[in-house]
Amino acid sequence: MSVRILATSPLVGPALADLGARFPDLLLAPFRSAEWNAALGETEVLVALVSESITEADLVAAPRLKAVGTYSVGVNHLPLQACQARGIQVVNTPGVLTDATADLALALLLALTRRVAEGEVLVRSGEWKGWAPDQLLGTGLAGKTCGILGSGPIGQAFARRTWALGMVPVFWDRDGLGGEVDFGPARARRLILSDLLSSSAVLSIHCPLTDQTRGLLDRFALELLPEGAVIINTARGGILDEPAAIDLLKAGRLGGVGLDVYEGEPKIDPRWLLAPRTVLLPHLGSATVETRTAMASLLCDGLAAALG
Ligand code: DGY
Repeated sequence: MSVRILATSPLVGPALADLGARFPDLLLAPFRSAEWNAALGETEVLVALVSESITEADLVAAPRLKAVGTYSVGVNHLPLQACQARGIQVVNTPGVLTDATADLALALLLALTRRVAEGEVLVRSGEWKGWAPDQLLGTGLAGKTCGILGSGPIGQAFARRTWALGMVPVFWDRDGLGGEVDFGPARARRLILSDLLSSSAVLSIHCPLTDQTRGLLDRFALELLPEGAVIINTARGGILDEPAAIDLLKAGRLGGVGLDVYEGEPKIDPRWLLAPRTVLLPHLGSATVETRTAMASLLCDGLAAALG
């Protein structure tokens, strides 16, 4: 079998097909199918989705591998050290999904705090009896502090959105204490984690999943949040201790949780489905036509460069 490029699915837009036309021997085979396994030995470029964990054993089975590409900015599902040790290039899609992901985080925030999903269910149920003074009261955001974990491009884009709502963004990031983050229209303080948590009415996660951030928001950390705080996660499962968050929601300590990502997704802790004050989405952060098309172009350009 001759396979230079091994991908598991078509991507949005023409980029992958164009790459296949430029470098023949592109095989599309479902992840971990017999065909995919058999092709590894010939493969020079592997294309994975965010839901497909590539292991060190896969690299061993692919002696001709030059590059691993992922249709995502996140690289937590790739064996980065092993790639580096073998000189295998890792190609991902930073930059082009910044606005789409920040938009979705904002959608979750507004859906939660303005009870959008509950209102929709009420209207569709046919049970709506008309306007009432205290019907589905939500929570205002202006003037409140928004704690943002991660001061990279997506964290800053989310800060701009919350700033436009009249919120006060503050940051925590992995690289430093103190100082300020210039997020465009204004500057925001960078705080140590405990200070950020204790002052945040809204907490939004925008850092990658790494050894340093895995389990960062454990029960102890979550209990530092003010009563009624809202948590948004469009980054990765595994950063937030989900069982602890569910317990705090049920106890009425948290005001709401909006999730686009889950530890172990697509399996979801069934207690989320019954937990109050939640909005749950199926990992849609980058899911716009424009963004997914741009991600495919960026990825395939990088892979073409790796193939030479
Ligand atoms: C990413 O890019 O890492 C998102 O989670 C999927 O687009």
